Amino acid sequence: MTAPIRENLSGLDLRAEIDRLRKERNAVILAHYYQKPEIQDLADFVGDSLELSRKAAETDADVIAFCGVKFMAETAKILSPEKIVVLPDMDAGCSLEDSCPPEQFARFRAAHPDHIALTYINCSAAVKALSDIIVTSSSAETIISQIPEDQPIIFGPDRHLGGYLNRKFGREMLLWPGVCIVHEAFSETELLKLKAQHPGAPVAAHPECPPHIVDHADYVGSTSGILQFAKSFPGDTLIVATEPHIIHQMELALPEKNFIGAPGADGNCNCNICPYMALNTMEKLYVALRDLQPRIEMDEELRLAARKSLDRMLEMASGTVGKGDLGRA
Ligand code: 13P
Ligand code: SF4
Repeated sequence: MTAPIRENLSGLDLRAEIDRLRKERNAVILAHYYQKPEIQDLADFVGDSLELSRKAAETDADVIAFCGVKFMAETAKILSPEKIVVLPDMDAGCSLEDSCPPEQFARFRAAHPDHIALTYINCSAAVKALSDIIVTSSSAETIISQIPEDQPIIFGPDRHLGGYLNRKFGREMLLWPGVCIVHEAFSETELLKLKAQHPGAPVAAHPECPPHIVDHADYVGSTSGILQFAKSFPGDTLIVATEPHIIHQMELALPEKNFIGAPGADGNCNCNICPYMALNTMEKLYVALRDLQPRIEMDEELRLAARKSLDRMLEMASGTVGKGDLGRA
């Protein structure tokens, strides 16, 4: 658990201090699109889970300050073990990871020995180690289309992403019953009211949304996909059904357009802010760079086991694996 910051940092110019420490430490600051705007603005790179994994694998920095959630920082450590990886708040978890304890997942796998395990990156290192191929929301479609149609698959932990892929590709993957609490909170009734108020405004949704939201979407895709859609749609208003901090990038790129976060059950989109992502703050990032803590540490055997399924994702996402190379790891 991350200890609360007890020292008084109020006199510090945090932005300047973070810049100073980033140089001193030869650190790279990676941030997910769901981070607070002030963190996105100072990051060296802002991206989706796949892009952040690639950056972590490629960087020549000595330190990776990961402004995202724990499974993302763990992925950085798995791919770049020689780097120091700090996460400003070690409690920045994910409801999907929590829904999938490794022991239960191991039993699920063992019960389906003829299935390969295709697993969403939003899971623990231990679940990655039990999986054959990892996917992110931006790589899932490319990867699934390379898996022979007669190959049975178990998919976890997000049942909505898995269900979306099943519908789109006509597959019958067995789904682990996890959900993202953030995307689960969008309200269909409130979304329909919002659409009525903005006739003609398209809806862009993340595939972690339940089907009753995805069914109203004009575009379904990862955070980077939604951002691309926002940059190319012809209208002036877009309804965005994913964590609302991504709207910051849309407003920077297209200040003349209107981006509206899809509402939750009370008609207010605040319930769609990811409570885990929100734990990272400028203060905690400053302390993490200064003290090089809290740091991701991982048992080497676990890291190597988890790396196999991640490497498969990186290869398949860039199309460098042939169909004959697939199957259980
Ligand atoms: P992306 O891979 O689309 O960035 O999604 C990550 C995530 O946690 C969505 O909730
Ligand atoms: Fe996890 Fe959902 Fe937060 Fe993404 S938005 S990190 S899936 S809880």
